[in-house]
Amino acid sequence: MVLCSVKCHTSSDETLPPEPIAGAAELFALDPAVAHLNHGSYGAVPLAVQRAQEQLRIEQERDPDAFLLEAPGRIAEVRRVIAAALGADPDGLALLTNVTEAVAVALDSIPFAAGDEILVTDHGYGVVTRAAERRAAECGATVRTLALPLDDEEDAVVAAVLAALRPRTRLAILDRITSPTARAVAIGPLVRALAERGVLTMVDAAHAPGMLPVEQEIGGADFWFGNLHKWAFAPRPTAVLAVRPEWRERIRPLTYSWEHEQGYPARVEWRGTADYTGWLAAPAGLALLEELGVERVRGHNDRLAGYGQRVLVELAGLSALPATPGVSMRAVRLPAGVAQDEPAAKALMAAVRDGIGARVAVRPWAGGGVLRISAQVYNRPEEYRLLAAGLARLLG
Ligand SMILES: Cc1ncc(COP(=O)(O)O)c(C=O)c1O
Repeated sequence: MVLCSVKCHTSSDETLPPEPIAGAAELFALDPAVAHLNHGSYGAVPLAVQRAQEQLRIEQERDPDAFLLEAPGRIAEVRRVIAAALGADPDGLALLTNVTEAVAVALDSIPFAAGDEILVTDHGYGVVTRAAERRAAECGATVRTLALPLDDEEDAVVAAVLAALRPRTRLAILDRITSPTARAVAIGPLVRALAERGVLTMVDAAHAPGMLPVEQEIGGADFWFGNLHKWAFAPRPTAVLAVRPEWRERIRPLTYSWEHEQGYPARVEWRGTADYTGWLAAPAGLALLEELGVERVRGHNDRLAGYGQRVLVELAGLSALPATPGVSMRAVRLPAGVAQDEPAAKALMAAVRDGIGARVAVRPWAGGGVLRISAQVYNRPEEYRLLAAGLARLLG
């Protein structure tokens, strides 16, 4: 059933949805009765990757001693595979569970002095900003939030951040792809300009691995972290922390472990007896992405997300937030008074789940509510039309 005036056939016309990637939906275990339009929050693990992890679990249970004794060596191999895929220096890269953990490790490693300032932006992820606030409070430092205009060009963003610096700004935390607003920030020039002014940089690239080419930027920031369980098809939880050479031996792991004397990165990765099978299966996710065609997947997702956003504007009357090319997510502004705080945003997500059968991310942002959609190879244009028609009903 065609629910809208937005055409759904395929052509090179940018306003139309992309050609579907044949057989892609069958690569996942997702419930077909649900419109999974929130890949950006938790990812979805392909069946082949689930099987790879299951094989590792079987291997582990056949001989737990051998498996765990050999695990540090195998983690080091996986680290090299991931570093090669991201274009990162393998000696600078550590595996961690998620960005929540990576930001804690990075913040803990910087010796802030009383009076220092950490600069964050209003597009930052809530938990990352709160982690900065907690660390700042411990050290007598402060956190200041810069409102970054949404529609600014690259140069304007650099200028806005530089203009916001104060003599005691020690660290700037910047998002590669913003979570509430689904916007890509050109990190390279920003990080270089901040380094020239002696300001440390931390890049929250939670969504970047798998979604964007990162090889030009990953070594630039003092600390750069990203999840592989979002767009690189890794089992949950798998993340990386990349640090510049001067920080590596100063990185403070969350816990002391038997790998401590090995130095960075092993000392950050090892947390005693734990389940490392997810990390060890991460290369299977990268291999699948490669098999599907990295550029093809990125192009498909960007274009489908753009289509989804247009449908939400045309069918549900929502306003589009500015988008940046190459991002597999888009955001729309909700009507005034809707999802203005966390409980209301959660209630709307539940209403979308129960009333429409769709999964989306809803967040309060800059005084109003914002709804974010994602696009992945398993999504179909009609799922966005279903969402838009449902939202038009739900929001009146
Ligand atoms: C920009 C950003 N930073 C950090 C995180 C936290 O990621 P995790 O829950 O895997 O630690 C997210 C999660 O969606 C995010 O979007």
